[in-house]
Amino acid sequence: MGVGPGAPDLLTLRALEACRSAARVFGPAMAPDAEGRAESILRRAAPDVAVERLVFAIGGDEAVRQEAHARAAGRVVACLDAGERVAFITLGDPNLYSTFHHLAAAVRQQRPETPVTTVPGIMAFQDVAARTGTIITDGVERLVVVSAVDGAGVVAEALGDETAAVVIYKGGRHLPEIAAHLERTGRLAGAVLGESIGLPDERVGAASAFADRPAAYLATVVVPPKRPV
Ligand SMILES: C[S@@+](CC[C@H](N)C(=O)[O-])C[C@H]1O[C@@H](n2cnc3c(N)ncnc32)[C@H](O)[C@@H]1O
Repeated sequence: MGVGPGAPDLLTLRALEACRSAARVFGPAMAPDAEGRAESILRRAAPDVAVERLVFAIGGDEAVRQEAHARAAGRVVACLDAGERVAFITLGDPNLYSTFHHLAAAVRQQRPETPVTTVPGIMAFQDVAARTGTIITDGVERLVVVSAVDGAGVVAEALGDETAAVVIYKGGRHLPEIAAHLERTGRLAGAVLGESIGLPDERVGAASAFADRPAAYLATVVVPPKRPV
C-alpha cells in the first residue's frame, strides 16, 4: 500500500486500516538495520504498527536485484503459507515507480494463487503541486510523467510538447541540466521543485532557486504547460 510521499498525515485512512488489520507489515529497506522511508512515514503516523524489513538491491546488477526480489518474496510466501494476511508499504503510490510490483511478481511466481490488491497513496508530485499552489493541468492540457534517472535527455524530449505538464521523477542529480532545458524552452519560470517533501530536510519552491546544484534522489520537479498570459 502507498504511504504517501513523506508527511504522516498524507497517509490515507484506508492505508492505515490495511496496516492495522494485517498480521504482518513488510517495508522495503536498503539494509536490515536501516529504516526505510516508507517505514519512517508509517512509524510517525502509527507508532504501534511494527514493520518487518525486506532488503532490496537498488540500482546495479539486474541479477542481484532479481535475487533480492526472490529472497524477499520467499519471506513473504513463508508468512502467507503460515496463514498470515500481509501488507507491503511503499513510498507514494504503489503503482508509480515502486518496488511493489517487482515483489508482487516474485511472490506470484513462488505462490501463483496469491491474491494481491493495492491501496493507492498520494504521489510525490501531488504534494509538490499542493505545496506550491501549482495547477498541473487544465482544460485539454496533458500530463507527462518521466523518470530522469538515466539523464536529462528524456526531459528535453517531453518539453517538446508545450501543451503538456511535465512531472520529473528521479532527476535530482541532473537538476542543473534539467534547469538548463527548462530555461532554453522558456519554462523555468513556472517550474517548481520539492525535495524530501514531508521529511525533516525538505526544500520546496521555485525550481530556479535550487537549479545551481544537484538535488537529492527524493526530488520531484513539476513543470506546468505553457499558457497564454
Ligand atoms: C521510486 S520513486 C517513488 C515514487 C512514488 N511511488 C510516488 O508515487 O510518488 C522515487 C521518486 O519519487 C519522488 N519522490 C518520492 N518521495 C518524494 C519526496 N518525499 N519528496 C520529493 N520527491 C519524492 C522522487 O522523484 C524520487 O526520485
